[in-house]
Amino acid sequence: MEFVKTGISSFDRLFAHGGYPAGNTILILGGPGSGKSIYGVQFLYRGAVDENEPGVLVTLHETPQNIKRNMRSFGWDMEKLEAENKLVIIDAASGRIEERGMESDVMARALDVKNMLAAAQDAADEIGAKRLVIDSLSVMGILSKNDFELRTKLLQLSGRLSAMGITSLVISEARTMDIGTNEFPVETFMVDGVIIMRLNTETQERKINIRKMRGTKHAMGSFKFEISDTGIDLTN
Ligand SMILES: Nc1ncnc2c1ncn2[C@@H]1O[C@H](COP(=O)(O)OP(=O)(O)OP(=O)(O)O)[C@@H](O)[C@H]1O
Ligand SMILES: [Mg+2]
Repeated sequence: MEFVKTGISSFDRLFAHGGYPAGNTILILGGPGSGKSIYGVQFLYRGAVDENEPGVLVTLHETPQNIKRNMRSFGWDMEKLEAENKLVIIDAASGRIEERGMESDVMARALDVKNMLAAAQDAADEIGAKRLVIDSLSVMGILSKNDFELRTKLLQLSGRLSAMGITSLVISEARTMDIGTNEFPVETFMVDGVIIMRLNTETQERKINIRKMRGTKHAMGSFKFEISDTGIDLTN
């Protein structure tokens, strides 16, 4: 079995074999500003730079321009990686802004799981991607007419991602802060792993928790982390 580094060396140590089991589909759950997008990009950036593992980012949430600008504050030059064929960014967000008149049509196409994953697969084949990040699923959820449609989409998504054999992070907004205690969002059953990111807005404390990870032993509990000039790092 192969393992894939998370992009955060202090976090790798929480896994028995130093990372995620290769090919896993992992859900990243957290509230607004909890660090989900940074976590996703760090996985791709460090993978490309340190491990020579190319990656694909599907953005449904922020435009590629915004992401690239924001990530520059960590010294991460995503344009350079694109030029080196170590990163492809698939923009499923801009359509909605540029073609407002066709909003529902454009979004429906962009948010069609089949289309999105076909584009991701093409990009992955082109650069030999080992890593994939989808940021974020919440957009799909909002636009689904009902729970049944959302579940169908998720089932399609997780099935296709496993078939692709790429280690994937699927980002989603948490609907409750008590994930794993009282309430189990349907998403958590359909994936190989669940990682929860929390920000306590009163104490400004950030915490990360591996809720589940099929195929490996891992540390349990919440671990404090910070976002600094070099990205995400555990502090305890
Ligand atoms: N250069 C930086 N140094 C330290 N902290 C930063 C830096 N840039 C961003 N942050 C922190 O990271 C947060 C944003 O992280 P990120 O975009 O990953 O959150 P998110 O969980 O994806 O949020 P959303 O749900 O809105 O998409 C900011 O609110 C800020 O607190
Ligand atoms: Mg985000």
